[in-house]
Amino acid sequence: MKVAIIGGGPAGLYAAILLKKQRPEADITVHERNRADDTFGFGVVFSDATLDNFEKYDPPSYRRITQEFAYWDDIAVHFRGTVHRVGGNGFCGCSRRMLLLILQERARELGVRLIFESDIEDEARFADADLVVLADGINSRFRDKYAAHFQPEVDVRSNMFAWMGSSRPLDAFTFIFQETEWGPFIAHAYQYEVGRSTWIFETDPETFKRAGLSGLNERQSADRMAEIFGWFLQGHPLLTNRSMWRNFPMIRSQRWVKDNMVLLGDAKATAHFSIGSGTKLAMEDAIALADAMHRAPTVAAALEQYEQGRREEVEKTQHAADVSLVWFEHVDRFWDFDPVQFAFGVMTRAKAITYDNLTLRAPDFVGEVDKAFARHVRDKGFDVDVEKPLAPMFQPLRLREMVLANRAVVSPMCMYSAKEGLPNDFHLVHYGSRALGGAGLIFTEMTCVGLDARITPGCAGLWNDEQEKAWRRIVDFIHANSAAKMCLQLGHAGRKGATRLMWDGMDRPLEQGGWDVMSASPIPYFPDSQVPREMDRAAMDRVKAEFVAAAKRGEACGFDMLELHCAHGYLLASFISPLTNQRTDEYGGSLENRLRYPLEIFEALRSVWPSHKPMSVRISATDWADGGITGNDAVAIARAFGEAGVDLVDVSTGQTVRDAEPIYGRMFQTPFSDQVRNEARVATMCVGNITTADQVNTILAAGRADLVALGRPHLVDPAFTMKAAAWYGANDIFSPPQYLPGKDQIFRNSVRDRQEFEDLKIKAKPKTRAELKAEATKPLAAE
Ligand SMILES: Cc1cc2nc3c(=O)[nH]c(=O)nc-3n(C[C@H](O)[C@H](O)[C@H](O)COP(=O)(O)OP(=O)(O)OC[C@H]3O[C@@H](n4cnc5c(N)ncnc54)[C@H](O)[C@@H]3O)c2cc1C
Ligand SMILES: Cc1cc2nc3c(=O)[nH]c(=O)nc-3n(C[C@H](O)[C@H](O)[C@H](O)COP(=O)(O)O)c2cc1C
Repeated sequence: MKVAIIGGGPAGLYAAILLKKQRPEADITVHERNRADDTFGFGVVFSDATLDNFEKYDPPSYRRITQEFAYWDDIAVHFRGTVHRVGGNGFCGCSRRMLLLILQERARELGVRLIFESDIEDEARFADADLVVLADGINSRFRDKYAAHFQPEVDVRSNMFAWMGSSRPLDAFTFIFQETEWGPFIAHAYQYEVGRSTWIFETDPETFKRAGLSGLNERQSADRMAEIFGWFLQGHPLLTNRSMWRNFPMIRSQRWVKDNMVLLGDAKATAHFSIGSGTKLAMEDAIALADAMHRAPTVAAALEQYEQGRREEVEKTQHAADVSLVWFEHVDRFWDFDPVQFAFGVMTRAKAITYDNLTLRAPDFVGEVDKAFARHVRDKGFDVDVEKPLAPMFQPLRLREMVLANRAVVSPMCMYSAKEGLPNDFHLVHYGSRALGGAGLIFTEMTCVGLDARITPGCAGLWNDEQEKAWRRIVDFIHANSAAKMCLQLGHAGRKGATRLMWDGMDRPLEQGGWDVMSASPIPYFPDSQVPREMDRAAMDRVKAEFVAAAKRGEACGFDMLELHCAHGYLLASFISPLTNQRTDEYGGSLENRLRYPLEIFEALRSVWPSHKPMSVRISATDWADGGITGNDAVAIARAFGEAGVDLVDVSTGQTVRDAEPIYGRMFQTPFSDQVRNEARVATMCVGNITTADQVNTILAAGRADLVALGRPHLVDPAFTMKAAAWYGANDIFSPPQYLPGKDQIFRNSVRDRQEFEDLKIKAKPKTRAELKAEATKPLAAE
């Protein structure tokens, strides 16, 4: 077999090593345009898990790499004169130059041919090769040459960055967030060998310009960085090596394989440096390719397996890198946070690290986070314990005069079980049991303001006396038997009306018994859905009056809070999104115009809803579709409702148009809540694939939302909050007297269960290499 590899970076070299080990008889050549020891950049970083992989696949190179490595366990966050350190991270670094020399030596040892100063312009010269590996890096000539086939997408990020080095020793992966007269600068730094550390500097484009960096050469810009971070560098110089400032390109390719050619490493996909995964991804690509070549009968089958098997892992890492880079791009959002909360945000930004996970590794740090959270709550007038604070989920919140005992919320969820809008015993049991289960706030399902405002024939409503009586019975039960507060969500289905019950085909038009639907513009939801009537002023006035009448009935029922549903493509959302609003009057066009009618309704409700009771609005913070609402629009929308007196923005997303492309995942809508909360400066509730109390605490502690709603988890577990209270020792949670023996038992058992769980987790966690190295080098006398 003949293999030609273009590019002698980590991907190309490691692929050569693994393939040669597998097929010693194969003729494998690496073509590298640079000289053997030319290299750019300083250190590379690997996690312990990545090193485990290297150990498994090629012990000799693993041993040499690890001999050269600097290890560390801690991450240190420097911000506004404070430093917070968190241990147990298990990372190590080595110089990129040393890594490449080790890989070159190992490749040579195995019989791989390495040809340096060989710049490949055309792959046609490898026509006789069975496999051509395109490992030619971020600016891959061959990916670009066959762009029509590989279909790369290059997302050039806004922040500027530069790689530099220093002799400053570091004992932790160090983030420094530095305020300057021009704006914030960030340093990501780590040691990779004795006396050498990598420094990546990052800043936003405006700060970059204000700091005059665009006019400086490499040395001058290093000097400017040395001035800014001089207090930390302590006289150590900053070193440069092609340390130009540039923008990070996030690259994704639709295809990785063309005939017998395969993209590897940065050539196929990149991951932002803030999660330190570029070299790791490149080498793990090589592992995946070698595995596929080992398993599959032909090269073509192997390449197909490589692409299919590897894509998910790469996309997951890219997603984590995306989330992380967005955090750094918007660091100014958190600049006024308490430093410990800020540090918690840095640690948890990419979702892999959570509140519980940090509690195990760095209990003192989480203790400080809890205290800062509790202090903030006390500053709002609550008499909470700040020395031994409860977890954020169990801290109270006040909205106007409504006080919530905790931050867990039952999200609004249609039960499709009403007749003519009338709630029945199912609703009483459903809402009642969730209130008994401990959630601080319970939302009603979208409660429709008129018969023709319903989504489906099973939707609940509040337009007549009988419905008012039924809702009052539910609210009274909840107030009499639980500590939960109850929020009425009012809505109108708009163009998604007259559709089937969820279990009969969500959003599909009714075959029989439908009614006329209306919307901002006459655009059907599905091509075969009813074409809605475009609302005229008379219809707008009628619907407004229905909303007002329903709100008055809501007050008569005793609801504690009112939410206006302006999300998910229903009537009011259809005004806000440009994808569903094509009006040419003063209700269409600009965002200001598109918001006019929803705001008019909101203001009408606010004027009849008692001033001591809060109001929220649910919005779709993105349509997940080209030309639709984006996170930035959501900030503007939240500001507009904020000016109209909203107390909380309930941040959901999507469901506006059929061809949306949402990116699902754990807590997938939380970044929008974060953006709205910390840019528009309004209280928010987040929701969406949040399934554990750990996630709830992570979101709250990082300041990404003020309340956390859970929908589907509450459908199977009404006592979600009570169980979490037991886990976190929030003894004060209300339980009706009938249930006290159950509460006593779970609280007693939880102490033991939690201890056992933590012991198991700690026992199951392998020692990091830094810990092992520290043990091995510990002087005997110290034992
Ligand atoms: C300037 C720079 C500095 C970096 N510094 C660091 C760092 O300090 N730490 C870190 O972890 N990551 C760093 N990275 C990112 C990291 O290097 C990559 O994520 C990782 O190296 C990807 O490995 P790769 O093998 O896919 O690509 P690369 O390492 O980029 O290797 C590709 C190789 O292909 C060669 N090549 C390209 N075209 C041709 C051709 N036509 N013919 C022959 N050879 C060709 C290149 O010279 C290069 O050696 C840096 C990246 C750049 C661009
Ligand atoms: C069965 C069901 C019905 C829903 N009905 C409503 C509703 O009436 N009003 C609303 O705003 N959202 C509604 N949603 C959306 C939820 O409130 C929530 O935003 C969504 O389910 C994501 O949260 P989760 O991942 O915790 O379930 C509904 C969701 C489900 C699963």
